[in-house]
Amino acid sequence: MVASTPVDPAVAATIKPFLANHFGNPSSGHWAAAPAKAALEKARGQIAALLGCEDDEIVFTSGGSEANNLALKGVYFARRDSGDHIITTRIEHPAIIEPCRFLERLGARITYLAVDRFGRVDPDDLSRAITPRTILISIMHANNEVGTIQPIEECARIAREHGVLFHTDAAQSVGKIAIDVNGLGVDLLSIAGHKVYAPKGVGALFVRRGVSLEPLIHGAGHESGRRAGTESALLAAGLGEACELARDLDSMGRVRVLRDHFWRELQDRFGNRVALNGDPEHRLPNTLNVSFINCIGAEILKGLDGVAASTGSACHSGRIELSAVLEAMGVTPEVGMGAIRFSLGRGTTREEIDAVTERLSGLPGTAFMAMSAGKTV
Ligand SMILES: Cc1ncc(COP(=O)(O)O)c(C=O)c1O
Repeated sequence: MVASTPVDPAVAATIKPFLANHFGNPSSGHWAAAPAKAALEKARGQIAALLGCEDDEIVFTSGGSEANNLALKGVYFARRDSGDHIITTRIEHPAIIEPCRFLERLGARITYLAVDRFGRVDPDDLSRAITPRTILISIMHANNEVGTIQPIEECARIAREHGVLFHTDAAQSVGKIAIDVNGLGVDLLSIAGHKVYAPKGVGALFVRRGVSLEPLIHGAGHESGRRAGTESALLAAGLGEACELARDLDSMGRVRVLRDHFWRELQDRFGNRVALNGDPEHRLPNTLNVSFINCIGAEILKGLDGVAASTGSACHSGRIELSAVLEAMGVTPEVGMGAIRFSLGRGTTREEIDAVTERLSGLPGTAFMAMSAGKTV
């Protein structure tokens, strides 16, 4: 149960020949380049098919972080003559928040929208935040800690009405829910290989035709001048195959059933001693972020040795600090300090879920909670 995904065996099989044989540079004109170039362009088409866009709207990157950086900095540097204001949210991944902080140091003005207790932004807040100087809005598709899905269609429509570009970080949502860039109405969209059963170190940015970006990496004209550097046909082929597999969302239906079974079991055992973090309805099918009230997340994780879950709180100098996401959602310290995020994958089984439930019930802190009707520990 981990948010990063293993490499799918079919993806590994696709990649393998590139290690042994296909060493060519996709940009070269000679015989060795042909298989690499063909693989790169096939992969571009597979990613485009998943996202519902044209092949030439896909730019390969080194991952989700680079895709986000390219979207934010690329638009800012390309458009700063017409504006300097960017709107994002308080619950973005650091791969959005940190480039925003960097751009603030260069003089950009950034608005960080608040979210409600479920982690959703209010499109009316977005409308009110737009100024004549706004050049970009970046709102994540689904949150990495609590899985909340944002009202992207509505937010992107507002952006379009104001003539502002709209980016979404879809690193968490791709392969878990259907994504269509035209249905969503976005101009830019980031994906990360290692969230979709491809290797780490590869990702992509969808850039709508007509949107110009200043590259982050200047050099030769790779990726139609949007990202210099000889492309890795190997990694691209892996991401392409993973995106092909991700078009079949049936496994996510099964994952949702398992996730809901897990939550029901926890509620049965712990009653009102557990609380769900995130939106009960608008949420990724694989994510369960649950607070064990008045417990400490790190302590629970210690007792879950071998389960790759993570906590939404950290202990600094004896003080418990909640993650920025839980804090922005207004989660209280008593609730947030015991937050654990479980991310289910295609391979997660009911037996594994039931074993984790058993282990949670047997942990000293939580066992007492489970037994003590309504009493705060
Ligand atoms: C929402 C989100 N955006 C961006 C990233 C960064 O992606 P990468 O690790 O491929 O750079 C992640 C990775 O965890 C993520 O969850």
